[in-house]
Amino acid sequence: MKVAILSDEKIMASVAADTVEAVCTANPHAVLGLATGSSPLALYRELIERHRAGRIDFAQSRSFNLDEYVGLPAGHPESYIEFIRRNFTDLVDLPAAEVHVPEGNASDPHAAAAAYDRAIRDADGIDIQVLGIGSDGHIGFNEPGGSLASRTHVGFLTEQTRRDNARFFDGDVEKVPTHCITQGLGTIMESRHAVLLATGENKAEAVHQLVEGGISARWPATVLQSHPDLLVVLDEAAASQLELADFYREVWSEETRTR
Ligand code: F6R
Repeated sequence: MKVAILSDEKIMASVAADTVEAVCTANPHAVLGLATGSSPLALYRELIERHRAGRIDFAQSRSFNLDEYVGLPAGHPESYIEFIRRNFTDLVDLPAAEVHVPEGNASDPHAAAAAYDRAIRDADGIDIQVLGIGSDGHIGFNEPGGSLASRTHVGFLTEQTRRDNARFFDGDVEKVPTHCITQGLGTIMESRHAVLLATGENKAEAVHQLVEGGISARWPATVLQSHPDLLVVLDEAAASQLELADFYREVWSEETRTR
């Protein structure tokens, strides 16, 4: 795991975009794993800019989102398919038919989850996974207490996550769906490269656990400590509970000096 503690969102986006660009340049057929929510928005803006500048293209790529709410009506602006189209995939040259999101409206969500997991495997897995982290330590929508080896499945959102996400639903927690389909932790762990972004004080404890805690289902993101190639990109507030922050800064500065 590499940890980059950076001064502002623009620099964070640039560092994360460098990782995505390197993967996509090395492999124009790269399979992208995409997150929704606030954390990756600046990264997506940066990738769109680089695409427009001719630095990176996605014409031969495919994408698989991490998760989707269960039960939102088709076309709901806060569904994750609409979110990812609006904020990223419609704004680059990724073919619309290659943008995959779990089918939250399926009549059998469990079967849809299993089919989604198979589709990722059939695509030979995810080359670069973009991640955020919930204040309760979830990645995707893998909430505390689940299996660290889980595959794509139907999950239940914690009260904390529903409160955190109420800002997208007129501030009304009752409007936030209770269930989701999410890639499992085992699915996410098979990604070949991953970049996780976190900003703000409310992520500080989850980030501390992710980087420095013991691996446990209580803090699902801790499973990423075993990921073969993870870059964690943080602002100062999200890094504020890291015990070894100065050491990570030193390592990162050495890393960037020798690049
Ligand atoms: C979204 C996802 C979630 C979010 C997390 C943080 O697809 O999988 O794990 O990354 O809830 O959300 P934000 O970035 O809105 O704070």
